[in-house]
Amino acid sequence: MNNHGKVYIIGAGPGDPELLTLKAKRIIDDADVIIYADSLVPAEIAGFAKPGAQVYGSKEMALPEIMEVTLRAVSEGKTVARIQSGDPALYGATLEQMRILEREQVDYEIIPGVSAVFAAAAVLKAELTVPEVSQTVIMTRAEGRVPMPEGEALVDLARHHSTLAIFLSVTRMFRIANQLLEAGYRADTPVAVAYRVGWPDEKIIRGTLADIAEKVREAKITLQALIIVGKAVDPELLNPDSEEQVAVSHLYSDEYTHLYRRAGQGSHADADRADLYDAGGYEIHPEPAAPTPASTGDD
Ligand SMILES: C[S@@+](CC[C@H](N)C(=O)[O-])C[C@H]1O[C@@H](n2cnc3c(N)ncnc32)[C@H](O)[C@@H]1O
Repeated sequence: MNNHGKVYIIGAGPGDPELLTLKAKRIIDDADVIIYADSLVPAEIAGFAKPGAQVYGSKEMALPEIMEVTLRAVSEGKTVARIQSGDPALYGATLEQMRILEREQVDYEIIPGVSAVFAAAAVLKAELTVPEVSQTVIMTRAEGRVPMPEGEALVDLARHHSTLAIFLSVTRMFRIANQLLEAGYRADTPVAVAYRVGWPDEKIIRGTLADIAEKVREAKITLQALIIVGKAVDPELLNPDSEEQVAVSHLYSDEYTHLYRRAGQGSHADADRADLYDAGGYEIHPEPAAPTPASTGDD
C-alpha cells in the first residue's frame, strides 16, 4: 500500500485512563482515526482524540469492517489508533489484524498496556510470584467456544500448582472450581475474582475454591472479570503478624551477593563492582563446567 499512514495497536490498560502509558496517550491525542474496543475501554480514553478525529467503537464492528476503516484511513495518509483493552498481546485478536496489515504492507506498531492481570494484582495487593509459594504465573482461559490446544486444559495446567490467572471465563466459575479440585487443588486454595478493575463499578470477590463459585453467582458477575487462583492471592500473606513465614526474596536479602551488592554489606556495595558478578542480578554459584560435547558436525 503506497501511503504514509500508520496504525498503532494500543493497549489501553484495564479501564482507568490514568493507567494509559504516556506514549499511548500521545498517539491517541494525535491520531486522525480512533477505533476503540468500547466494551472494555472507556469512552473517556477515546475522548482524548483531537477535535475532528473520527472515532469508532469496535464492539459492534466485525473484523472486515474494522480493517476497511483502517486501510482506507491509511491509504489517505492518516494515523489510526486501534485501542484495545489491557495489553494487546493477551486475548487481543491482534494477530488477525497484523496479518492483514502485513499483507497490505501497512506500517504499524504495538504499544503495550497494563494487562487486567496486573491491574487486578495491584488492587488485590498481591505479589503473584511469592518466593517459595509460587514462582510461576499461568495466564489462561477455560475452554468454551474456543477449544484449548493439546496439553492446555485446566486439569493439565493445574498440575503445576502455580498462580493461575484465568481470563474470559467467569461464567464457568463452578466448572473451573470443580476441575481444579479434581486436579488436586485443596478446597481452601485462595481465589480472587476481580470484576471491571479500574472502572467505577469495580468489585473484588475473595474466597476459596470451595465457595468462590457461589459467591460469584450471588454477586451476579457474568463478564469482564479475571479469576486468580493460588496461595499468592491469600490476603493472610500480607498480615505481618501471621504465623505463616514468608520467604524473603533473594534480590533484597542481606545474605546474597548479586550484581549490585555483596552479601553482608547492606546497601552500600554498588554497581561499581558489577564486573565481579553475573549480569543475571542474582546469587552466583559457579556452575561445574559442562563437558564439551564432541562435535557431531550438525552445528
Ligand atoms: C478479550 S480479553 C482482553 C484481555 C486484555 N488484553 C488484557 O491484557 O487484560 C477480556 C478479558 O480480560 C479480562 N479483563 C479485561 N479487562 C478487565 C478489567 N478491567 N477487570 C477485570 N478483568 C478484565 C476479563 O477476563 C475479560 O473477560
